[in-house]
Amino acid sequence: MNIQESVAFVTGANRGIGKAYVEALVQAGARRIYATARSVDTLSNVVTIAPNQIIPLALDVTDLEQVNAASHAAQDVTILINNAGVMGFGGLFTPKSVETAQWEMNTNYLGTLSMVRSFAPILQRNGGGAIVNMLSVVSIANAPVYGSYSASKAALNSLTQNIRAELAKQGTQVIGVFPGPVETNIAEGIPGDKVEPITVAKAVLQAIEQGIEDVYPDPVSQSIFAAIADPLKAVEKQFAGWLPQ
Ligand SMILES: NC(=O)c1ccc[n+]([C@@H]2O[C@H](COP(=O)([O-])OP(=O)(O)OC[C@H]3O[C@@H](n4cnc5c(N)ncnc54)[C@H](OP(=O)(O)O)[C@@H]3O)[C@@H](O)[C@H]2O)c1
Repeated sequence: MNIQESVAFVTGANRGIGKAYVEALVQAGARRIYATARSVDTLSNVVTIAPNQIIPLALDVTDLEQVNAASHAAQDVTILINNAGVMGFGGLFTPKSVETAQWEMNTNYLGTLSMVRSFAPILQRNGGGAIVNMLSVVSIANAPVYGSYSASKAALNSLTQNIRAELAKQGTQVIGVFPGPVETNIAEGIPGDKVEPITVAKAVLQAIEQGIEDVYPDPVSQSIFAAIADPLKAVEKQFAGWLPQ
């Protein structure tokens, strides 16, 4: 699939990795980019990147009415980038841990599920296209320092595999992105080296063009997955084979 001439839709596009996706898509020659955020006012600094190509839209991914209104307004999409995400801190035995887990699960897992259900028919009509889901290195093992976030990203990893298998017949490429720490607001409290958001965005656009399913965009991610990526993929493919043809 070519980025040039594609029409992309990015959630959580007002800052961080979402804004970097918009920048990378403009650079790569995307024809149109729907840049979305909960408050459309927060997108003014993104629209200025390429005012003729970027269409700002208000979208909270946890609000099904807004999700369906957004897909109604964006019938030409060929690449859906599910980037919006939230992370809380604190252990499971702190006073607000259930509320935190619900917030993370509603946004990271159920929000992405609603987006995919709403946009899959559009991608099919437009030739198959691609879906990108923002996972994490903590999708494959729990990091107890943000345990309920890890659980929500593990759920999203499972959902990504499910979508990949179910949408194969309509020719939709489904990409999972497994970053380690990236220099954004969400990772503010995380120590150690972090890569820039644009590094992640560019690696993902390259993966779309090269038909790569899983993206390990930084040294932390690459070292964690070096020994396990192939065995994990083999199990995924085995289970996907259980789907009736
Ligand atoms: N940074 C890292 O180290 C890292 C590592 C692995 C994965 N990730 C993932 O990368 C993605 C992007 O995060 P980031 O690092 O760029 O962090 P960020 O700067 O905090 O951006 C998060 C984005 O998600 C949006 N968002 C939150 N809740 C939303 C909702 N209900 N509906 C729509 N948008 C919502 C935020 O918009 P508002 O301004 O409205 O809050 C913001 O645009 C997330 O899925 C995150 O889990 C990040």
